[in-house]
Amino acid sequence: MMQRALAWRYAKPCVFVLGLLPLAYLWFALLHDGLGANPAEALLRGTGLWTLRMLCVLLLVTPLREAMGWVGLARFRRMLGLFVFFYAILHFLAYAWLDQSGQWQDILHDIPKRPFILVGLLALLLLLPLALTSFNAAIRWLGAARWRSLHRAVYLIALLAILHFFWMRAGKRNFDEVALYAAIIGVLLAWRLRRRFMRTAARPGTSP
Ligand code: HEM
Repeated sequence: MMQRALAWRYAKPCVFVLGLLPLAYLWFALLHDGLGANPAEALLRGTGLWTLRMLCVLLLVTPLREAMGWVGLARFRRMLGLFVFFYAILHFLAYAWLDQSGQWQDILHDIPKRPFILVGLLALLLLLPLALTSFNAAIRWLGAARWRSLHRAVYLIALLAILHFFWMRAGKRNFDEVALYAAIIGVLLAWRLRRRFMRTAARPGTSP
């Protein structure tokens, strides 16, 4: 049943529309005064949270595909990766335009005061080559093995995103949400490391 749903020819357009729903929600809330007393901060935080959520969904694809045998999930990975990048860019634009009024000098002064922003920037910079090489031509150009090792950076990006979130909330000593996302990413990372360990152990002539 799930396999049929994943192979359905409208499945991709449906995922595309679903991926745009958070943006539609934020836009709707902005137009209808639904973002509270500080809409700029709500937009900045909302886009940050949706970048992190999209990242978690992206990291879930391979474990779900392998654990449940849903091989059709693989064809959504590229779109999900591009959604992570899309929300990260919106988050960056919300910061640069709404928080810093588009003034580069202000941004340069802000970074030493709030170093968690540098961690966010690093995560965004690492996302850039992944987004640029997510197309078939780039995969052919790089070769499958090099493409795969480049795209392993997604785990480093996830760790940086958690550090960014944790550091940002540290000033307010409010860690509940951070702990939830750190646990999700921790489990997904542990799964990946375990799989790697088992593959190495299974290779003839290697010990774990
Ligand atoms: C992969 C990249 C990124 C992820 C996953 C991410 C995620 C987040 C999350 C989850 C929050 C907290 C939202 C909340 O408290 O509800 C946040 C806050 C914030 N992020 Fe990012 N972020 C990323 C990149 C960036 C970049 C590139 C910048 C700016 C250059 C940035 C600037 C900020 C700022 C200023 C806040 C704090 C807003 C406040 O104080 O209210 N982030 N981010």
